[in-house]
Amino acid sequence: MLGVVFTEFMEMVEDKFSFDVADEIMELSGVGSETGFTAVQDYDHNDMVKLVAALHKVTGIDIDTLIVVFGEHLFGRFTVTHSHFFENTESSLDFLEKIEEYIHVEVKKLYPNAELPTFLCDRVDEDKLIMNYSSKRPFGDLAHGLIQGCGAHFKENLTIERTDENGPMKVQFVISRNA
Ligand code: HEM
Repeated sequence: MLGVVFTEFMEMVEDKFSFDVADEIMELSGVGSETGFTAVQDYDHNDMVKLVAALHKVTGIDIDTLIVVFGEHLFGRFTVTHSHFFENTESSLDFLEKIEEYIHVEVKKLYPNAELPTFLCDRVDEDKLIMNYSSKRPFGDLAHGLIQGCGAHFKENLTIERTDENGPMKVQFVISRNA
């Protein structure tokens, strides 16, 4: 998993909790406490799972909730760090529909080592999109948070119905845009 995901995660922990909590979870998990994280380096995605588990221990907040909140935060950061991906896109469903065939394709060009999931999409109509997430990694909650972050960015009210088909590695999202 790319270091940028780790650096953004640690910044969120510092912002939403504190520097002390950030230090504590690195100590507790044994991840990053020696050298911190570098945005362009690759890390084992299990290290992210360990950091989130440590944050759960320290804060008492559910693991699922922590990952969804991180997804929302990460999307907000992408709107700043990768703003050119947002040109000519007016709505959240139009943007989400482009993740598989445009955004993540460009991400792979920028970071050839990126490990990305697959989204099979079905645009049912103007206001409804079905996204089928599948990955070798258990980040269905992260996808959920990113979708919520996308709705927030475009100031649209989305209803997200979610079905986990194989734990957090295969998840269907039925996303409806409300008037
Ligand atoms: C500008 C928008 C986006 C950018 C720049 C972006 C970029 C990235 C990057 C750099 C990674 C890390 C790859 C790695 O760790 O090796 C990633 C992973 C991921 N992305 Fe995106 N992404 C964007 C939008 C989205 C959206 C909207 C979704 C959800 C619908 C999504 C779902 C995911 C998931 C779930 C992962 C974790 C890896 C996995 O599940 O296997 N991304 N993305």
